[in-house]
Amino acid sequence: MSRKNIVIAIDGFSSCGKSTVAKALAKKLHFVFIDSGAMYRAVTLYFQRNNIDLADNDAVLEALENIHIDFIPNPEKVQIHLNDEDVSEAIRTMEVSNYVSEVSAVKAVRTAMVKQQQSLGKKRNIVMDGRDIGTTVFPQADLKIFMTASPQVRAERRYAELTAKGEVLTMEEVKENLSHRDHIDSTREESPLRQAEDAIVLDNSELNQEEQLDFVVNLIKEKIGLA
Ligand code: DC
Repeated sequence: MSRKNIVIAIDGFSSCGKSTVAKALAKKLHFVFIDSGAMYRAVTLYFQRNNIDLADNDAVLEALENIHIDFIPNPEKVQIHLNDEDVSEAIRTMEVSNYVSEVSAVKAVRTAMVKQQQSLGKKRNIVMDGRDIGTTVFPQADLKIFMTASPQVRAERRYAELTAKGEVLTMEEVKENLSHRDHIDSTREESPLRQAEDAIVLDNSELNQEEQLDFVVNLIKEKIGLA
């Protein structure tokens, strides 16, 4: 009998290093990595470019119908395409970060993204990171990790990431953006960010990347018998 596909859900606050762990894990296990936050970012970019009013439900629904998001595997890294345009870099700016939580709190946006995420996770072994993967997208995931780190560590990581890309901004702006997103992400009505009851917490404030990967790989050995 063939085994059903395996789903590993990694949720947590912004800039906790979820994608780094998820990517390394997917590579090690030869699973597909899906960054669900990138999908909300791509929708946000489209809404900003087309001045979509979030209060106008018809405009939101029409825009969602015109949005096609693809993940294109590439030897270097997975690219995210919005209607055939590579937006991997464009979705990482502060302009998008400052608006993405508002966009992702809209019910129609979540319904559309959750549907796409569920279909991306059908029939394939995946590692998906986000905010509601273990609670809403894949409540039956084989393993659920909830990642956290101290606000200072998260801000330092995000600041380093953005300044390395040439963005000019202050540490204060980064901290404000993170706490603003935490607040909206965890208080919105539709699938708010919260730890699933059966998720295992990984606080990586004091752990390097190798230690984080070891932690998750050991869990997978224990719980799924893989790795
Ligand atoms: O993971 P990230 O920081 O790139 O995500 C960007 C935003 O997308 C985040 O502030 C909240 C939203 N998001 C969400 O609401 N649900 C998810 N599953 C993933 C991200």
